[in-house]
Amino acid sequence: MERRTIGAAALGVGAIGLGCMPMSWAYSASEQSGEESLRTVHAALDRGMTLLDTADMYGPFTNELLIGRVLKERREDAFVSTKCGLLVGEQHIVANGRPGYVKRACDASLRRLQTDFIDLYQLHRADPEVPVEETWGAMAELVSEGKVRALGFSAVGARADHRNRPVTTGSGIHAATIRQLERVQGVFPVSGVQAELAVWSREALDSLLPWCVSHGVGFMAAMPLGNGYLTGTLTPGGGFETDDVRARHPRFTAEMMAANQPVVAGLRRVAERHGEVTPAQVALAWLLAQGREVVPLPGTKKERRVAENAAAADLALTPADMAELDALPAAQGSWE
Ligand SMILES: NC(=O)c1ccc[n+]([C@@H]2O[C@H](COP(=O)([O-])OP(=O)(O)OC[C@H]3O[C@@H](n4cnc5c(N)ncnc54)[C@H](OP(=O)(O)O)[C@@H]3O)[C@@H](O)[C@H]2O)c1
Repeated sequence: MERRTIGAAALGVGAIGLGCMPMSWAYSASEQSGEESLRTVHAALDRGMTLLDTADMYGPFTNELLIGRVLKERREDAFVSTKCGLLVGEQHIVANGRPGYVKRACDASLRRLQTDFIDLYQLHRADPEVPVEETWGAMAELVSEGKVRALGFSAVGARADHRNRPVTTGSGIHAATIRQLERVQGVFPVSGVQAELAVWSREALDSLLPWCVSHGVGFMAAMPLGNGYLTGTLTPGGGFETDDVRARHPRFTAEMMAANQPVVAGLRRVAERHGEVTPAQVALAWLLAQGREVVPLPGTKKERRVAENAAAADLALTPADMAELDALPAAQGSWE
């Protein structure tokens, strides 16, 4: 697979990474199987999808434990990107950016991941009670201690929210993230930024991705498949299990899923022009074409998806394809 670099530290990764969240978090637990997840991670590494994106809050903790079982066997094949700063409580997710907490969280992640270093350590969300420079300073100390190779921001301007509602990006969020990025750059260089970017949610193209390009920072596209919608495999009105975030997600009501079908139709039209290509592959190829800083993180817990998602790196979209995809409507039904 083509290689791309993550930021100032110039760390090489496969152009497409693996979002590990669906293995342990956010989507229905009924389909989660530790054994299949392990096979999925191995299959991704075999295909050069080296960036494994996890977080201590996914599970919580079980996602890192799972990744740790793979890293124990093949640490040198993987680029581990994990996150700290969000705690899952009974009712709410809360941010904690206190320096002492961040240091302890890193040590705990290292133990769960069964490794002695993390390639990219990201602040999941900023803590409104702690100046972000203080949190970032503690993270920078982790780099000097050799526990972490590079630092990243994950949609830091976004707020922490109730566990049964999406915790993500949205309009106005990117401006807040950029203000915080500017503040921490003076403390220690940012290597990676992670935020939502997909063909139906392109807000990051206006300011956040250009900021990354101008500062030599890698951009990891979260939710690149629109939480599964852009693959064309979800049926409007099909419903979701109650523990699946999409059951309460404004974009996934039967009405909005029907209203957003023109986006899937557009992906399908482009896919059909390329022969044996799927809408998911077109959605990922569109992201790769946004610039060499972009590394999409398609999430899956299913081994059989890996070959399909990895092959998107070989799909060359034409200028006409790109124009058609750029003209598709934005998602109806916001996260907010
Ligand atoms: N920093 C943040 O705040 C933040 C927020 C959200 C996500 N993320 C990161 O971004 C990653 C990606 O986001 P995401 O996983 O929520 O959304 P996504 O990648 O847009 O979509 C994931 C969904 O698509 C399905 N899927 C994947 N490949 C498919 C294919 N080829 N055909 C059909 N269905 C397919 C998966 O189902 P199956 O599992 O059944 O295949 C899963 O339900 C996460 O895993 C996480 O690492 C970060």
